[in-house]
Amino acid sequence: MTLNLAGLEVLIGAAVSLKTNARADARLHRAARILVVDGEAHVRAMIGATLESQGYQVQTTSNGSKAIEMVEENDFDLVLTEIVIQDGNGIALMERIRGQQPQLPVVMVTAIHDISVAIDSMHRGAYDYVLKPFERERLLGTVQRALEYRQTLQENHSYQQNLEMAVRARTELLRQAMEDIETSYDITLEALGDALDLKDSETEGHSKRVTAYTIALARAMSVASTEIKVIARGAFLHDIGKMALSDEILRKPGPLTAEEQTAMRRHCANGYDMLRKIPFLREVAEIVFTHQEHYDGGGYPSGLRGSEIPIGARIFAIADALDAITSERPYRKARSFEKARKEIQRCSGTQFDPAVVEVFLKVPIEVWQELRTQIGEQSKRLSTFDIVNRPIQKEK
Ligand SMILES: [Fe+2]
Ligand SMILES: [Fe+2]
Repeated sequence: MTLNLAGLEVLIGAAVSLKTNARADARLHRAARILVVDGEAHVRAMIGATLESQGYQVQTTSNGSKAIEMVEENDFDLVLTEIVIQDGNGIALMERIRGQQPQLPVVMVTAIHDISVAIDSMHRGAYDYVLKPFERERLLGTVQRALEYRQTLQENHSYQQNLEMAVRARTELLRQAMEDIETSYDITLEALGDALDLKDSETEGHSKRVTAYTIALARAMSVASTEIKVIARGAFLHDIGKMALSDEILRKPGPLTAEEQTAMRRHCANGYDMLRKIPFLREVAEIVFTHQEHYDGGGYPSGLRGSEIPIGARIFAIADALDAITSERPYRKARSFEKARKEIQRCSGTQFDPAVVEVFLKVPIEVWQELRTQIGEQSKRLSTFDIVNRPIQKEK
């Protein structure tokens, strides 16, 4: 499978993410940066000196708003804050920092009589608390654990980001592979349709035009695009069962005998049998089987009527008649789209579903003429099924 541009972009995105995460890893190995928030200058100095003696980089402040600013502007690894601080509350400060940077641990500093408040702060998101007066080892132990906790959080975050990126990349590749397969299917179908066109040269280009008309009509009826794909393939392959007919019957200029007519009528079942064994064409086979049915039950092979006939086949029937009427046959000249319109209107309720005819009549004649021209010009370089994704001009 070849890797296309979109896939490449996703993989490049994954590589950039790995690099970003590598930067995060590098940050973990530099000296940890700690912010100390405490109203008492001697406490700030004492905590600062203790932490700096261990190689940590320390900044201090006495008030909460300044602390918020510093957290926003710097890349701290840990915040130590008094519970009672100038211009505010240490717990509110901790909650605000945690809201902004969930991976930045906050350790509360408190006097021993505030211990219940300290425990409450842990329920609200603080990593831990340390009691004043400080025990040096206790303070350093808590700081180290908090920093290890931050490192674990960051590693998990990086891992998750990489994983998500990898899943996205794989999903994109899978989607592209599915798209490639679908395109390959359609190219194969085109070859199959072309094979019939070669055998039955009288109707050359008929399958492509009928497919284009069917797509336009299905879109005018607001059929879902996934359903339109099925209907389009059904339209394209509608007469594929004629491959089994002898050239004498297929190319016979005059009327068919009763026996020949029976053989001709078998093309619906033959087409169905050919396609139903192919899993992705199972629904398409249903349309092929019912494409000669008439709304009033007068068609074949089953004499289905009304909604017993799949909607795709009811839409197709009008597209098929439109092309048959406006194409030249050895025994008659091509007639105009206006004449075809009148003829289809005349057969509303007998051969055709009146609801589909109603929508058909609302589509301007120029749309059908334009499609006929486009198919004539582009049939050699454009997949017929591409029309599903292209806007139909002049459509109302
Ligand atoms: Fe047919
Ligand atoms: Fe046809």
